[in-house]
Amino acid sequence: MLSDGRIVQRPLAKMACLCCGAAFHASGISSAEVRTIYDDAYALARSSPKSDAQRARAYCNWIRAECAAPLNILEVGCGSGALLRELLQAWPAARGFGLDPALPETDPSNERLRLARGFVEDIPDDAGRFDLIIAVNVIEHTEAPATFLRALRSRLAPDGRIVIICPEARPPNLELLFFDHLYSLTQAALLAASSAASLAAKRQVSAPREIGDFQMVVLEAHAADATTPPAGPPPELLAERNGYLGRWAGLDQILLERSASAARLVAFGGGQTAALLRAYAPKTWSRVDAIAVDDPTEAWTLGPAVVPYQDIVQHPGCGVLVATSPHVQAVLAERLNRDGLQPITWNDLIPR
Ligand SMILES: C[S@@+](CC[C@H](N)C(=O)[O-])C[C@H]1O[C@@H](n2cnc3c(N)ncnc32)[C@H](O)[C@@H]1O
Repeated sequence: MLSDGRIVQRPLAKMACLCCGAAFHASGISSAEVRTIYDDAYALARSSPKSDAQRARAYCNWIRAECAAPLNILEVGCGSGALLRELLQAWPAARGFGLDPALPETDPSNERLRLARGFVEDIPDDAGRFDLIIAVNVIEHTEAPATFLRALRSRLAPDGRIVIICPEARPPNLELLFFDHLYSLTQAALLAASSAASLAAKRQVSAPREIGDFQMVVLEAHAADATTPPAGPPPELLAERNGYLGRWAGLDQILLERSASAARLVAFGGGQTAALLRAYAPKTWSRVDAIAVDDPTEAWTLGPAVVPYQDIVQHPGCGVLVATSPHVQAVLAERLNRDGLQPITWNDLIPR
């Protein structure tokens, strides 16, 4: 599955680097194929506007906690531009330039904010240099992380900083399932790519709990190309990844068994995790006859009709496939039980 929920008919077979632990596709994916993913059809930035805005606020707070106020910000892979807007509100003296090949078809540019369509290599020459460059959940989509970082470095003002945010690779988590994640980057892999791009890490941190399994590295230009080989991945990492993907491979059968007694099956949750169940637990998903959500305007188009949660509360005993990220399933199950429904969770098998 791609990160916006589209299904591609390709196997999810991964290999890992024995030096840095980065995981990547076992069978090559061509540059042309990668580029076609991010066109008008790539819907992630426009699928759930309220959640997008909420995430942008959380990322803005995290970045502000780690960086001094800049004057010129470049965001590569800016999605909808929501994060740049938040940052400009927080830093009133700053200007922002955002670039994304799948920028939604609106033109919200203004005096302080310029948004354009394009990949990292399309940053226009007249854009100048930036004292803060950010890329949030983008580097794992690129064909060569070090080349991507080199391109960012070439736009850095003297004493500027680059902030890279991307999924944590360890412990393995949902990010391993997205076909357009060409890399799962361990902290060592991120440092190795930075070093190969003549960038030094000033700080490397994990995300605050509310953001989830993500990491940040703050980089600055390094005069010499002082590439230091990474120490090597922990030996358990390969087994952890195999175990994780194996549990996903067996999930459909287990969910069929857990939902067997339910005459009717509804999914609770209509976002990225629901899309993962559609892709990787297709037999169970084919039993789902409606998607219940608190806010129907935020639901992705995943096949079954979307209904407000209150509608299914009218059907006590209804089986509810919990289709939200594993870490909130326990709390949701309590709510569904209180409302007389029959929750079907899977966070005991796949905790993240
Ligand atoms: C997972 S989305 C993240 C979007 C946004 N930063 C956010 O966090 O909501 C990844 C984004 O990277 C963009 N992207 C992929 N490859 C890119 C590249 N080589 N250069 C610039 N942007 C790229 C995609 O179009 C997509 O919008």
